[in-house]
This record gives sequence, C-alpha cells and structure tokens, in this order.
Amino acid sequence: MRSLLVTGGAGFIGSNFVRYYLESHPGVRVVNYDKLTYAGNLDNLRDIGENGDYTFVRGDICSRDEVLAVMKKHETDAVVHFAAESHVDRSISGAAVFVATNVLGTQVLIDAARERNVERFLHVSTDEVYGSLGREGKFTESTPVHPNSPYAASKAASDLLVLAAVHTFSFPAIVTRCSNNYGPYQFPEKLIPLMIACAMDDRPLPVYGEGINVRDWLYVRDHCTALDAVMERGRNGEVYNIGGNNECRNIDIVRLLLRKLRKPESLISYVKDRPGHDLRYAIDASKVMGELGWAPGVTFEQGIEQTVEWYLKHEPWWRRIMSGAYREYYKDMYET
Ligand code: NAD
Ligand code: DAU
Repeated sequence: MRSLLVTGGAGFIGSNFVRYYLESHPGVRVVNYDKLTYAGNLDNLRDIGENGDYTFVRGDICSRDEVLAVMKKHETDAVVHFAAESHVDRSISGAAVFVATNVLGTQVLIDAARERNVERFLHVSTDEVYGSLGREGKFTESTPVHPNSPYAASKAASDLLVLAAVHTFSFPAIVTRCSNNYGPYQFPEKLIPLMIACAMDDRPLPVYGEGINVRDWLYVRDHCTALDAVMERGRNGEVYNIGGNNECRNIDIVRLLLRKLRKPESLISYVKDRPGHDLRYAIDASKVMGELGWAPGVTFEQGIEQTVEWYLKHEPWWRRIMSGAYREYYKDMYET
C-alpha cells in the first residue's frame, strides 16, 4: 500500500490512528480527510508537525465529488473509515445527522472507492450494533445485530451496506467492531474524559442511573494496532470484533478516577438515566487474536494510569474544548 485515506482522522480514534500509522509505516502517504465537525480538532495532530507523508484535507464524506477528487489526487489505494457522528446522547437528541453521515456518508465512500478501484476498505464499527447483553455471555461476530440507539442503528446500517457491497460487487472490505475506547484526545463529552474534567474542577460527576451499566474498555492505541493487523492480514468480507476483555461498571470507573485524582466521592451525582441505556457490552475477541495474532499491549491498570496522567499534563487541550477556543483558532476551517 502506498496511499492511505483516513476519514475522520481529526477525531479521537482517527487522530491516534494517524499518529500511530505515520510512526509505524514511514513512506506510506496518509491523507486525513475530515469535515471538522464539533468532534474534529486539529489540535489532536499538532505534535505531528511537518511530515512529508501526511496531508490534511477538509471535506465531507457525504460529498461524492469531494471524495472522488481526493481519492484521485492522492491515488488512494486503501481507506480506513472512522468518520462518523459517534455520541449516543447526541443521537437521542437528534438522529438526522447520524443517518446522513454514518449511513449515507458510508455509501458515498463505498461507491467512490469502487469507482477508484481501492484495494482495501476498512470500515471501523462498534460493538453497540449488537445491542445489549444481560449479565452473561459476550458478543461474537455471529451475534445478530440488534442496535438500540439511533447511533447504533446508523452504525449497523453502515456495516450492512459495506457487507452488501462485498457480497454484490466483491468489494474488498472488512468490518471491525470494537468496544469502548479510552485514552488521549478523547472528546470530553464521553465518560472518562468528562469525569476527569469535572473532578479537576470540583464539579459534580454526572453518573447515569445507578452507575451499574457495564462497558468493555480498550486503550485507544491497542485499537489502532488491531486495525493495523486487520488491514495487513484480515480477510475481505469478514467481521472482526476487537476488545480488551476488560469489563467495568461505570460507577467503578468513576470511583477509580476520583481515587487517582485524590478527589472525594461526594462529587458523584446520580442523574436521570440515558433513555434506552444498554446494560452491558462485552466482546469476544478470540477471532482477531487467534487468526491475526493481535493482543492488547497494555492492561487496563496501565492504560488508565497513562490516561489520567495525559489529561493532567494536557489540561490546556481539554480546556480549549470546554471553552470552545479550539474552534476559534482554526476558525476558517471549522463548520459554522
Ligand atoms: P469522534 O466523534 O471523536 O470523531 C469523529 C470524526 O469524524 C471527527 O473528526 C469529525 O470531524 C469527523 N466527521 C464527522 N462527520 C464527518 C463527515 N460527514 N465527513 C468527514 N468527517 C466527518 O469519534 P471516535 O470516537 O474517534 O470514533 C471514530 C469511529 O470509531 C466512529 O466510526 C465510531 O463509530 C467508531 N468507534 C468508536 C468507539 C469509541 O469508543 N469511541 C468504539 C468503537 C468504534
Ligand atoms: O461501545 C463502543 C461505543 O462506546 C462507541 O461506539 C461510541 O462511539 C462511544 O461513544 C461509546 O459509547 P458509550 O455510550 O458506551 O460511551 P459514553 O462515554 O457516552 O458512555 C459510557 C457509559 O457511561 C455509558 O453507560 C453511559 C455512561 N455515562 C456517560 C456519560 C457521558 C454516564 O454515566 N454519565 C455521562 O455523563
């Protein structure tokens, strides 16, 4: 592969992936194609500096002309597709943009990639497409999709469009479904960075319901190494689950963060539950581990320690988001 198009590379996982990929694959040209919605932040990639292998292009995955132009200009031969609306609570408040970006945008990319004869298309999806588990069991790749939120439904639809293109047109695509990521550059609307930011300001930490919902946490860099393995050695038409085998109740994460930050548990504030809140996610990652030899590089204890340290050291990064200043700096580039 010579030229990789990364969609959504200015977001949380995408920016970690771009950084990881430039470090581990020198000589491969990486084009970061991102619309810069509220979730896209060029601060996430400032430390890359001048790198001849890296190009940023501002664009929308829903625009066929823009997507085709960037693929043509940069002679794209592979795509890693992260771009999406990603926050469940926002999808409950307004689903339309989730359908536009996650469903229609993915179809635009599929069509453009087929037209340009792209050799590899990696569609980055989520365990949320499987719905919710009870106390027992794990999601395998053959668990039927049963999405419960508008976000999850839009991701499930996009997965099915990718797999339909594989079946109908022998489109060379793979779908990955990963569990909850945490780590540097996560937008502070998501559980872990939000709780860190609230705790540091001695503000209440809003825990939904009783805090007993379970998520399966994976350090973001480990997601990136798994995606790399799938890109290199995965089989077209397959779905690969990715997860760190690390289930944790929300309340236990919140208490752990408070202990690490030396803040009192009295800051915990139980608030109204998320409508339709999925109880538990748990990933069976034996396929990606057995078939592709992938394994996480850090334990949850190591990952969360590094994450807390990162947010402490990079306070200006998340404060610029909280204040909205991150959109001021690159004013002419952000959508209004
Ligand atoms: P994010 O919200 O942090 O970033 C999304 C990025 O996509 C932003 O940079 C945004 O500007 C860009 N984008 C949005 N709409 C666009 C459009 N129309 N055209 C071009 N760019 C657009 O998301 P994230 O948490 O980094 O998630 C990335 C992907 O990984 C998503 O597809 C998500 O479903 C999936 N995923 C996330 C997690 C997780 O825990 N965060 C877990 C599994 C899978
Ligand atoms: O499972 C993968 C998914 O993980 C990704 O596909 C999504 O893009 C990503 O946003 C994430 O979804 P969740 O809904 O699991 O993540 P979130 O950080 O929003 O919430 C994690 C848990 O914490 C969930 O049970 C809801 C709860 N929560 C969340 C917030 C923001 C709270 O209790 N309080 C909060 O303020």
